[in-house]
Amino acid sequence: MINSGILSGVDLRKSYGSLEVLKGVSLAVDPGEFVCLVGKSGCGKTTLLSLLSGLEKPTQGRVSLDGKEITSSSEDELALFRRENVGFIFQSFNLIPTLSAWENVALPLFPMKIPQEQQRQRAMEMLEKLELGHRTGHLPSALSGGEKQRVAIARALVNRPKIIFADEPTGNLDSATGEAIMSILRRLNDEDGVAILMVTHEADLAKQADRLVRMKDGEIVA
Ligand SMILES: Nc1ncnc2c1ncn2[C@@H]1O[C@H](COP(=O)(O)OP(=O)(O)OP(=O)(O)O)[C@@H](O)[C@H]1O
Ligand SMILES: [Mg+2]
Repeated sequence: MINSGILSGVDLRKSYGSLEVLKGVSLAVDPGEFVCLVGKSGCGKTTLLSLLSGLEKPTQGRVSLDGKEITSSSEDELALFRRENVGFIFQSFNLIPTLSAWENVALPLFPMKIPQEQQRQRAMEMLEKLELGHRTGHLPSALSGGEKQRVAIARALVNRPKIIFADEPTGNLDSATGEAIMSILRRLNDEDGVAILMVTHEADLAKQADRLVRMKDGEIVA
């Protein structure tokens, strides 16, 4: 059943040369579900996230994202689809250092045919929602780690995606700030029904998810 749920990957395999990184992984996420992905370093978590979000193509297998079979899409089609339907959050924030907080948030909207003032408005609303209304004009270098990650979350949300992919979003933060970021993600999940697929090393955070998926050596084990 590839089209049920918001996200479904079936029998995903990925090899780099002779290295088989994913050995046939199937994973589905329901609308509004919060799933945490855990497992040892190098077991293939980031690779799986890249395949499921359409950043990379599997060597074999299929991915359906928000009702669209993305495995057969062209690169251009996929880039457009991702920009409009998917949010990403990374460990290293990935903000553009020369753009202000609101400009970073508005970035996914730049290529769209939305008037500039409206783009700014939407970015500002997102920042307000994340309690950063007082930091909209700051450059990333003037923000704390937790603030940077909140800007990154605002950017991930600005397209109003039904699913967000997060790869160790708390990995560069102290535990209190990491906990605060986790609360924000849980609130977005609870209140707005955004589905979340999050990789984390932290057991305390992982156990707060609706479901825990454990990987080992390129396979799902639990
Ligand atoms: N582009 C690539 N080319 C070659 N090998 C790669 C590439 N990307 C990942 N790998 C290898 O695939 C394996 C899985 O990597 P991946 O980044 O998915 O692990 P991970 O579970 O996210 O680890 P970590 O917890 O350290 O982030 C590793 O052995 C890695 O070296
Ligand atoms: Mg990783």
